[in-house]
Amino acid sequence: MQNILSVEKIEKYYGNKGNITKAIDNISFNVNQGEFLGIMGPSGSGKTTLLNCISTIDTVTTGKIIINNKDITALKSKALEAFRRDELGFIFQDFNLLDTLTAYENIALALTIQRKNIKEIDKLIKDVASKLDITEILSKFPYQLSGGQKQRVACARAIVTEPSLILADEPTGALDSKSSRLLLGSFEKLNKEYDSTILMVTHDSFTASYANRILFIKDGRIFNELVRGNDTRKEFFNKIIEVVSLLGGDVGNVL
Ligand SMILES: Nc1ncnc2c1ncn2[C@@H]1O[C@H](COP(=O)(O)OP(=O)(O)O)[C@@H](O)[C@H]1O
Ligand SMILES: [Mg+2]
Repeated sequence: MQNILSVEKIEKYYGNKGNITKAIDNISFNVNQGEFLGIMGPSGSGKTTLLNCISTIDTVTTGKIIINNKDITALKSKALEAFRRDELGFIFQDFNLLDTLTAYENIALALTIQRKNIKEIDKLIKDVASKLDITEILSKFPYQLSGGQKQRVACARAIVTEPSLILADEPTGALDSKSSRLLLGSFEKLNKEYDSTILMVTHDSFTASYANRILFIKDGRIFNELVRGNDTRKEFFNKIIEVVSLLGGDVGNVL
């Protein structure tokens, strides 16, 4: 199986002498092509810091992060910019769509930056829109869309460039339960039918139950790992809430 991501003994400190926060304390793991990995942990455990280091938004204090055979901790700013644009897709909790652009234009932006031509862009957008069931809303502006629709547009924008790795930080955090299910269904489809590799951070057990494998972090360290194997999503969900209660978090989301 092809390795897409290797996180090797990373540490991340914030602050300076006398007032140091160890946000990540020696984390290592690997992700293979086609995996859907969840990262769970209570608030303040280091999830966002970990994702930001992988997404090149933040830098590690020590350790290495290898994505698609490139050590991103060694890349300089120009190379990093190109790497981010070509290899990574981002989905944020608050969607990050541009209000003055239609859904179509928001998705097109990622491709325009890659200097693709208009015909090519149009074909790619139509393909991705049908995958995510947003064909009917492409001409609408963000204010005309529901939260769930906005997140599916953001998802289309993230995958239209065919990134090696899709990174999502609390993607269902601003969605109601029905929209969450729809979005997670889309993630499942992207992962199963299109072999997309997804790394998703969440504190929510229901959201996490869509992943194939989950790393639990606490105080900046990996505390536990669960693999879904042949479990149904419900069985996996039950195992997740057991670990969450061991972690001392609250079990908010009950099916
Ligand atoms: N920019 C920063 N400066 C200082 N401390 C930070 C910064 N970002 C995060 N932290 C600290 O690092 C720890 C992990 O935070 P974070 O990664 O945001 O956790 P999570 O996403 O799991 O809630 C927390 O103690 C937080 O206060
Ligand atoms: Mg966070």
